[in-house]
Amino acid sequence: DRYDLLVVGSANADLVVGVERRPAAGETVLGSDLAVHPGGKGGNQAVAAARLGARTALLARVGDDAHGRLLLESQRAAGVETAGVLVGGAPTGVALITVDPSGDNSIVVSPGANARLSPEDIRAAGALFGAARVVSVQLEIPLETVAEVAGAMSPGSRLVLNPSPPAPLPGHVLGACDPLVVNEHEARYMLGESAGSTPREWARALLALGPRSVVVTLGAAGALVADGRTGDVVPVPSPKAEAVDTTGAGDAFTAALAWRLGLGEELTMAAAFAVRVGAAAVTRRGAQESFPTADEVPAAAEVAAP
Ligand code: RIB
Ligand code: NA
Repeated sequence: DRYDLLVVGSANADLVVGVERRPAAGETVLGSDLAVHPGGKGGNQAVAAARLGARTALLARVGDDAHGRLLLESQRAAGVETAGVLVGGAPTGVALITVDPSGDNSIVVSPGANARLSPEDIRAAGALFGAARVVSVQLEIPLETVAEVAGAMSPGSRLVLNPSPPAPLPGHVLGACDPLVVNEHEARYMLGESAGSTPREWARALLALGPRSVVVTLGAAGALVADGRTGDVVPVPSPKAEAVDTTGAGDAFTAALAWRLGLGEELTMAAAFAVRVGAAAVTRRGAQESFPTADEVPAAAEVAAP
């Protein structure tokens, strides 16, 4: 295979302002100077994997504009294959992000060109699918495009899906996920009223929806891994990290996980590596610029016992 990982997803220019607290409806607050960072859940995953050393390709759509050029430049600098990044159709997607002093963020995405990444674009990229061990997708592109991705998987390759932002998924898409990667918010959305109260209950209930495996990310508490083959639910602890900006940390986690799974690593081991990558990413500002190289990932020995 030519690529360890094919990421299909969004590319956004992140317009980031630091705030003391988020404004309530009708309220105005002053924030920091504006920072413009390359982002988007798809673009973030691709850069995260490539920085770790994965041979990575991105299938995405950006506008023919300055933001689009910024995003392409960031991908290329990280070593991502960008032949699959289509240009035009609408302005580049933009994410309006506020970050508070605890490092937590709120995001509004204007999809722009991401909304024009079509099932046809997926069909035209068959060669990329044939050349990748793992395909990773999120939900900032149209749902029918995500469904086409699930159908375009070549035999022997593996689909990793992070339903962010959450939306109802067709059964054949859920059934193809190995794993489905969710945070608490996404787990609660997918389970609705039937959501239990503990992450372990969420993991079991999510498995019952059909994916082959499930990973629930828990921020500073690490992750829970649930394997549909064995039914086991295993906690994976995280190293301690001083959070400055959590933007994109989930994307870095998922990319690291997907890459290691493609190398043949077992799910719990891959997740143990991925939580360390996510922990490194929260310690720096921005999304893509904050992702660690392999050397910058904290060592396993630094992980505190759960
Ligand atoms: O997951 C973080 C990303 O979400 C940001 O980079 C922003 O672009 C939004 O897509
Ligand atoms: Na960060």
